[in-house]
Amino acid sequence: MKLNSVVFKLGATILFLQLIILIPLGYIILQLILNYSMNQTEQQLVQLSEKYATQVNNIDDPENLQLLEHLANMTDTSAVILDQNGETVLQSNWHEDITDEVLANPQIRQLEHGETIVEEYTFNSTTYLKVAQPITNQDRIQGSVVLFSSFGLISNSIHNIIFLVIFASLGAVALAIGFTFFISKKLGAPLIAMEKVAKQIAEKKNFSLRVDYKANDEIGSLAHAINHLSETLERYQTNRNEFFSNITHELKTPLTYVKGYANAVRHEMYQSKEEREEFLEIIENEADHISNLMDDLTDISKIEEGKIDLNKEDININNLTEEMIRRSQFRASEKGLKMNLDVPDNTVFLFADKNRLDQVLTNLVENAVRYTEKGSITLQVKEERNQIIIRVKDTGIGIKTEAIPYLFERFYRVDKSRSRANGGTGLGLAIVKNLVEMHEGDIDVDSELNKGTTITLRFPKEENSQHTTSK
Ligand SMILES: Nc1ncnc2c1ncn2[C@@H]1O[C@H](COP(=O)(O)OP(=O)(O)OP(=O)(O)O)[C@@H](O)[C@H]1O
Ligand SMILES: [Mg+2]
Repeated sequence: MKLNSVVFKLGATILFLQLIILIPLGYIILQLILNYSMNQTEQQLVQLSEKYATQVNNIDDPENLQLLEHLANMTDTSAVILDQNGETVLQSNWHEDITDEVLANPQIRQLEHGETIVEEYTFNSTTYLKVAQPITNQDRIQGSVVLFSSFGLISNSIHNIIFLVIFASLGAVALAIGFTFFISKKLGAPLIAMEKVAKQIAEKKNFSLRVDYKANDEIGSLAHAINHLSETLERYQTNRNEFFSNITHELKTPLTYVKGYANAVRHEMYQSKEEREEFLEIIENEADHISNLMDDLTDISKIEEGKIDLNKEDININNLTEEMIRRSQFRASEKGLKMNLDVPDNTVFLFADKNRLDQVLTNLVENAVRYTEKGSITLQVKEERNQIIIRVKDTGIGIKTEAIPYLFERFYRVDKSRSRANGGTGLGLAIVKNLVEMHEGDIDVDSELNKGTTITLRFPKEENSQHTTSK
């Protein structure tokens, strides 16, 4: 496990937190027990000394002294009886740490005033409690009884507690290490797997890889996000590849024509002057086709990269559709088609980019004329409460139902050869859909084979339009 790994940091933090809690807690408990035990010992020793002092009311009586010795032995305390002058009369359970110096402590003089003395002292690194009590007989101070008790027992308990605290700390360390390993397995493994996948995606462009981790937590959603990213990239890559192969293909065909017919003209491979004109016309048409393709490609790449800014203004839709009819009249009448305009009596305004809306309608009307052999083409405008509807209806060849979902894909044509013969590249509707969506509108296709097609555009009425309530 690396020192800078998240799991290691987590483990170290847990360990640090455990120790930071355990050590002060252990210290506090230790102090509490220590204080409690010392108070208890002190109280017991004071009580004992009082008892001795009353028992031994006459230090000259050897029987009394004997009794005291007996008591001291029973209670496992060291006892010393001093006379008025501070001279030792009796020592019981004597041990070497009770030095003359301790006994001759000037405080003992206080006893003469009938006071009890309680004091602690340390000798040879052992702490003792000393309690001295005056011995009085008929209000006369005869001497004193001094009791000693070491804190040996207490220090034993303290040692036990320290041992327990150390033991608990070691347990905490072991627990933290165990937990860290557990977490590293639980968290680390999917994170490492995700890192691998992300690296493969970034370095090897291998977009088919997915992270195999399904859980309803943050790591699960990270895995989901990575998978989503690689799916998007995969789709993008496929689209891009298809896009380039389509462009190459679309360019190849007209270029072959241009090259072939130019060659034919150069080597005078025509039969008549008319045929020569025909060859030159083909070259011109194919060059137009390439030029249109280039324009469409520039448009679509600009739209998809979001590089198109809409210049919105209130557009008089009645005028715009009328203009459309006028423009396509010539092409339509060439094919014997009738152009109809169906607009409401009132003027309908749409807050949109004029050039782009023109581009949308031109594409749709062009399609209608291109894919209609007989009948009519109708441009209809309707205004509803919240939306403005524009329809382009034709009585043409129609579109089979299975093809409808693909109509807006780049380069899609229902009948490739037919569209090409008409100069189509299959980019028109893809551009139209993008432009309509940029205007927050939507586009809908309704078509019946050999009966006709209706394309419906719906645009919301915009707040900032000056004519939203125009009637
Ligand atoms: N009004 C229509 N009637 C029948 N088929 C249509 C109609 N409009 C579109 N289509 C079908 O949908 C396909 C895609 O249309 P789109 O406008 O995107 O491409 P295109 O017209 O072939 O070429 P481009 O518009 O790029 O010059 C067309 O090739 C055609 O098969
Ligand atoms: Mg078209």
